[in-house]
Amino acid sequence: MAEVNLLARLPRAKRNIQQRHEAQTPENIAVAREYGEAYFDGPRGVGYGGYRYDGRWIPIAEDIVRHFKLKPGDRVLDVGCAKGFLVKDLMKVCPGLEAFGVDISKYALMHCEPDVVGRLHLGSADSLPFPDKSFSAVISINTIHNFDRAGAVRAVREVERLAPGRGFIQVDSYHTARQRELFLKWMLTAKYHDYPEGWLEVFREAGYTGDWYWTVLEE
Ligand SMILES: C[S@@+](CC[C@H](N)C(=O)[O-])C[C@H]1O[C@@H](n2cnc3c(N)ncnc32)[C@H](O)[C@@H]1O
Repeated sequence: MAEVNLLARLPRAKRNIQQRHEAQTPENIAVAREYGEAYFDGPRGVGYGGYRYDGRWIPIAEDIVRHFKLKPGDRVLDVGCAKGFLVKDLMKVCPGLEAFGVDISKYALMHCEPDVVGRLHLGSADSLPFPDKSFSAVISINTIHNFDRAGAVRAVREVERLAPGRGFIQVDSYHTARQRELFLKWMLTAKYHDYPEGWLEVFREAGYTGDWYWTVLEE
């Protein structure tokens, strides 16, 4: 169990925090939480502002394959896979790897990358339709904070159930009051978020023995 930054090579997104803060209305938050077209491909105020494949996950896929020593024939699951960019890139960097995804968004799955059609399942991270220990690794990036705390515990437990000791979870967090303030001005969908100590308590409660890292907004 270790803190490890597997997204170190992901380019930093440009964020206009003030503009997002002004768009943080209850209506926009409700629309974002539907995880439909508006969230992925609508205006930046309600989500990504256009979620398109550009290869940026390739270095991260390489680091995941190296970290978990994945090899052809192994099964890996991305929980909160959206349109399947990471699933696609995992198979690109490790030909023969069996990569799959799960997401709650039918819109994302219906607009997935052609290479991953049939590999993405519609479902919720807190109740995954797979047998115990059925994956060599389970990844969940920026997804589990979309539950309330009890749901987050259930979702972390699911990662552990499918791949004991072979999980990687990244969630929204902050180390300082300033970072928390920026996060609160930016976030739309997160329901549970905390300082690392709070998250580590969630992991403990879930019996999690995998790895983790934090998404922290900087100025
Ligand atoms: C911020 S996006 C992250 C997507 C991708 N993992 C990434 O890092 O680019 C959050 C994703 O979580 C999905 N999501 C939200 N609630 C979920 C749930 N209960 N179960 C599974 N996926 C969920 C959303 O549809 C969305 O694709």
